[in-house]
Amino acid sequence: MKEVDIIKKTIDFVKDTLQGAEGGHDWWHIERVHNNTKLIAATEPVNMFIAELGALLHDIADAKFNDGDENIGPEKARKFLQSLQVDEKIIDHVENIIRNISFKGGNFTSTFTSAELNVVQDADRLDALGAIGVARAFNYGGFKNREIYNPSVKPDMQMDKETYKKSNAPTINHFYEKLLLLKDRMNTVTGKKIAGQRHEFMLLYLQQFYNEWNGKA
Ligand code: ADP
Ligand code: NI
Repeated sequence: MKEVDIIKKTIDFVKDTLQGAEGGHDWWHIERVHNNTKLIAATEPVNMFIAELGALLHDIADAKFNDGDENIGPEKARKFLQSLQVDEKIIDHVENIIRNISFKGGNFTSTFTSAELNVVQDADRLDALGAIGVARAFNYGGFKNREIYNPSVKPDMQMDKETYKKSNAPTINHFYEKLLLLKDRMNTVTGKKIAGQRHEFMLLYLQQFYNEWNGKA
């Protein structure tokens, strides 16, 4: 099968798999990450086919929505790509992208690196920032029935991976525990530039939020 046809089939598979998903991790998130990937990859030395497959398949069974199981997503992706007879080396690489893309508190080091992972990770991170980042954070908090904000619950900056995954903190804390840390963790030149703008927007958003919270005009 030609690469363009594999991409088309993958899009259909992901749309189908993500029907009914939480609004911040649905097909539209994948479409945005796919588009971000193409934008960022324009100035990076990557195999576009691998990067696109990684972007499209990175969230088909997020551990957050599968009792913490981190194997379901990569295994599902592998089976799907095998069904299309994609080269095993490419499948291995895509699986590694899916396994290593996530933040999970950021306080651990991953063993796998590749230019393709760098691009897809930046593309995914950009979708956690800016206006869409704000929308996704509150949608996720609502989905989990979390408080929007609670001044007496302080952000926890030392969380290990397990604590981060179990956290039930108010959504505003997520800005400090993850979203505002991302701009300094971007891998690519284009990713860094866009992240900088989106970061500034979130700071402005938080300023306005606290003004309103505190009854200021
Ligand atoms: P992780 O942060 O575990 O790597 P994701 O990258 O899938 O997970 O997170 C994607 C998005 O889901 C975040 O950018 C944010 O919008 C939302 N999200 C995840 N955890 C939280 C949280 N504790 N509070 C609010 N939003 C969250
Ligand atoms: Ni994602």
